[in-house]
Amino acid sequence: MLVATASISLLGLAAAHIGCSGHNIARRNIGGEHNVIYDKRQVDGSNVDVAAECAPYSYAPMANSKPKYPSIWVQPAALVPGDTEAAALFATINATVAQKVPNSNSPHGTLKGDWAGVNYPPGDADCWWTQTRCTTPAASLGLQPDITNLPEPETWGLGFDDGPNCSHNALYNFLQTNNQKATMFFIGSNVIDWPVQAIRARDDGHHICVHTWSHPYMTALTNEQVFAELYYTRQVIKEVVGVTPTCWRPPYGDVDNRVRVIASALNLSNVLWKNDTFDWSVGTNNITAADVTNNYQKIITAAGQGQYATQGLTVLNHEINNFTMQEFIEQYPNIKGAFKHIVPLSAAMNWTHPYVEQNYTFQSFDEYVAGTPASGAAAASSDAASGSASGAAGSGTGTASGAAASAASAKASSKPSSAGVTRPAAGVLVVAIAAALLL
Ligand SMILES: *[C@@H]1O[C@H](CO)[C@@H](O)[C@H](O)[C@H]1NC(C)=O
Ligand SMILES: *[C@@H]1O[C@H](CO)[C@@H](O)[C@H](O)[C@H]1NC(C)=O
Ligand SMILES: *[C@@H]1O[C@H](CO)[C@@H](O)[C@H](O)[C@H]1NC(C)=O
Ligand SMILES: *[C@@H]1O[C@H](CO)[C@@H](O)[C@H](O)[C@H]1NC(C)=O
Ligand SMILES: *[C@@H]1O[C@H](CO)[C@@H](O)[C@H](O)[C@H]1NC(C)=O
Ligand SMILES: *[C@@H]1O[C@H](CO)[C@@H](O)[C@H](O)[C@H]1NC(C)=O
Ligand SMILES: *[C@@H]1O[C@H](CO)[C@@H](O)[C@H](O)[C@H]1NC(C)=O
Ligand SMILES: *[C@@H]1O[C@H](CO)[C@@H](O)[C@H](O)[C@H]1NC(C)=O
Ligand SMILES: [Zn+2]
Repeated sequence: MLVATASISLLGLAAAHIGCSGHNIARRNIGGEHNVIYDKRQVDGSNVDVAAECAPYSYAPMANSKPKYPSIWVQPAALVPGDTEAAALFATINATVAQKVPNSNSPHGTLKGDWAGVNYPPGDADCWWTQTRCTTPAASLGLQPDITNLPEPETWGLGFDDGPNCSHNALYNFLQTNNQKATMFFIGSNVIDWPVQAIRARDDGHHICVHTWSHPYMTALTNEQVFAELYYTRQVIKEVVGVTPTCWRPPYGDVDNRVRVIASALNLSNVLWKNDTFDWSVGTNNITAADVTNNYQKIITAAGQGQYATQGLTVLNHEINNFTMQEFIEQYPNIKGAFKHIVPLSAAMNWTHPYVEQNYTFQSFDEYVAGTPASGAAAASSDAASGSASGAAGSGTGTASGAAASAASAKASSKPSSAGVTRPAAGVLVVAIAAALLL
């Protein structure tokens, strides 16, 4: 029975504006090849000149890859015609969805996130976060709860959504200087646009998760579209960066059981957030920078009052524009003063192997806060894919392996970095790019 109630509609309307950054995302659609050849000086970490960082470039390892992916920034993504591997995987997953979630191809929301006319029956059978803030799907589905609170007390789980942003060097340099790692929720379309910036996240030892291909409201999509949004983002991160993430965050937090089942079948744990800085919202609805500073301050004050004495929290931040990045930089000392620990989600969850590729080893929580290198010893019991119904991360990830990754693997000698993340030696990226430029 469908029952519309005023309260549900109102909550829905408000919810359309909750979450990250849909109103501000720059929808670049380059439509055709970049005509500027990548010059590594452009995005060299030391270069914080935004015009230079954000000048479009062509990246040779990806030159022939675009036909393998959906068009960037076209909502929503769909299976690429002729991609039989993706189609076969989708068919399997679609059957699982049909079995686990009744009425399973019925989208909930609307593409633009306007829920005013949407009637959602009371009872929240679908654990639709946008409507009810539900984060605990029914046990019968075999899904892990969404991640919002963190097990470790007085801990700020640090993540940035909507990257890679072309102009992120100032932020990433700041993180580097402070030996601070974060979880980066990357948009597939941005990875296509700014591959070198995406690779920097890996090289800096950050933890990368999926944030969809085109940043839609996921519950508005068909099963195939949900699959495509996640699958191709995972694939392009694998091709460009060389790692396959095992976590994701739904844009606007818009997730329900149907979407969760599809993500879980792709071995992606669902990371939501406990508190939103609303950094993304400045400029909308008369929200000012001072409002956002106040939001940070509220969380910081709550920490001082012992609100996180038994568990930590995941906080929503963005690398979407100068303000969101600069505001974080300015608040960082205050956060540090109020919280015992500021950690990436990988450390917060002891995801010591957060990628399908088992040769990337991250610090456990204890190692991260002690500043000791990743040992990998705790890996077996704390697999990154613990949020998925199907268990541990595996290797069924498709075959895309980019020229960047192969060039890197040809030359790489692995060594633990000072930060304790095992990754290719620093020179490798430059070598790979230099080689690419010769092609
Ligand atoms: C996926 O499954 C749903 C039913 O659960 C069905 O309506 C839809 O046609 C299927 N999609 C494809 C592409 O097979
Ligand atoms: C923004 O502020 C102006 C002036 O106070 C007001 O007229 C307008 O309704 C406000 N807009 C929103 C979306 O709150
Ligand atoms: C954090 O978010 C919760 C809801 O998830 C809310 O009840 C609480 O007031 C928020 N705390 C702060 C400090 O903003
Ligand atoms: C990246 O950040 C710049 C500001 O530094 C902003 O103008 C731009 O819209 C952002 N791009 C994307 C794709 O988020
Ligand atoms: C924001 O812009 C200002 C002025 O251009 C610049 O000095 C600052 O480094 C930028 N911050 C970030 C985090 O990009
Ligand atoms: C991480 O590992 C430490 C040490 O084994 C343990 O105390 C802590 O509870 C673990 N945290 C999580 C989220 O598993
Ligand atoms: C998910 O992980 C399982 C277990 O490792 C693996 O068998 C499966 O192929 C993975 N699925 C995908 C879609 O990567
Ligand atoms: C992990 O293995 C892949 C494939 O062999 C390789 O390309 C990559 O450089 C390795 N990374 C690390 C950190 O060892
Ligand atoms: Zn987002």
